[in-house]
Amino acid sequence: MSKQRILSGVQPTGNLHLGNYIGAIRNWVEGQNQYENYFCVVDLHAITVPHNPATLAADSYTIAALYLACGIDLTYSTIFVQSHISAHSELAWLLNCITPLNWLQDMIQFKEKAVKQGENVGTGLLDYPVLMAADILLYQADKVPVGEDQKQHLELTRDIAVRLNHQFGNGQTILKLPEPLIRKEGARVMSLTDGTKKMSKSDPSELSRINLLDTKEAIAKKIKRCKTDPVRGLEFDNPERPECHNLLTLYMLLSGKSKSDVAAECQDMGWGQFKPLLTETVIQALQPIQEKYDRIMASKGYLESVLREGRQKAEAIANQTLAEVKAALGYSQPL
Ligand code: TYM
Repeated sequence: MSKQRILSGVQPTGNLHLGNYIGAIRNWVEGQNQYENYFCVVDLHAITVPHNPATLAADSYTIAALYLACGIDLTYSTIFVQSHISAHSELAWLLNCITPLNWLQDMIQFKEKAVKQGENVGTGLLDYPVLMAADILLYQADKVPVGEDQKQHLELTRDIAVRLNHQFGNGQTILKLPEPLIRKEGARVMSLTDGTKKMSKSDPSELSRINLLDTKEAIAKKIKRCKTDPVRGLEFDNPERPECHNLLTLYMLLSGKSKSDVAAECQDMGWGQFKPLLTETVIQALQPIQEKYDRIMASKGYLESVLREGRQKAEAIANQTLAEVKAALGYSQPL
């Protein structure tokens, strides 16, 4: 039996943070040998908010190198850049024309991001989930490993696929319905400065997130300054103590210890004892990733060859799906 297919991606907006790593990439790595995997750097999504053309290309390389540094293995996985395969934009257009506008206006992430941009909300921000649907549906993905914040976009992707199949499939399934793959622990890593907000690249405060490429000093400073509470004794799952739950979860996931072990270890600790422990754990977890990242970045030719081969492999699948969708919609073959 052939393996099920996975597709996922991260935007090249700045550096990756612990939320991206724990909510998404670590899960890609852990499950990769069971699946046929496609991981893209979603650079077309990156321009849905104001971006810097001078750094876009370099940022895409950084993310691809981080995929490898985090443990993506080319034996099982294909890495590529979204904008290198024009089928993504083309399918997005075709899907736009069957997606009701109010489905997009209901998206939580659109509403949140639109508020931040005031009068200048671009059409691309509204359309972001349709492009994401195109990314997934082009590869006929079975599963999509993401953090909790992407759940609604996955539901929309399924709704779009159902609609296309129903309207144009003549009883056949043209696009496969993907399932979200969301882990229970770590699917929503919270900000270091506010345990009720998710850790995010767009938070103006650098102190709110730990980036995968942060120096030891930066990690130590961010944890030292992170928000805590005046209570002694640390515990999971107390809704009154969101920071405490978040920091213990980070410690648990990065140390590899079980929840019950961490709960027992930390139940009598004060913050003064826990913070250095967490700092050391984060540094230890990120060090091998940073070392591998430096080695990959020192060999740009290697990274280019990974992305070139990735594009070729991914493009063959994407183009086939696109041709099937175009045929279903009634388009003529190019002459
Ligand atoms: P992006 O770059 O915003 O996030 C990339 C991944 O990181 C997860 N994530 C988090 N997980 C836990 N805690 C957090 N604080 C946190 N912040 C981010 C996200 O859920 C995501 O899995 N729209 C996608 C990019 C995309 C995509 C796709 C994903 C475009 N096309 C196709 C899957 C399949 C996004 O959120 O990127």
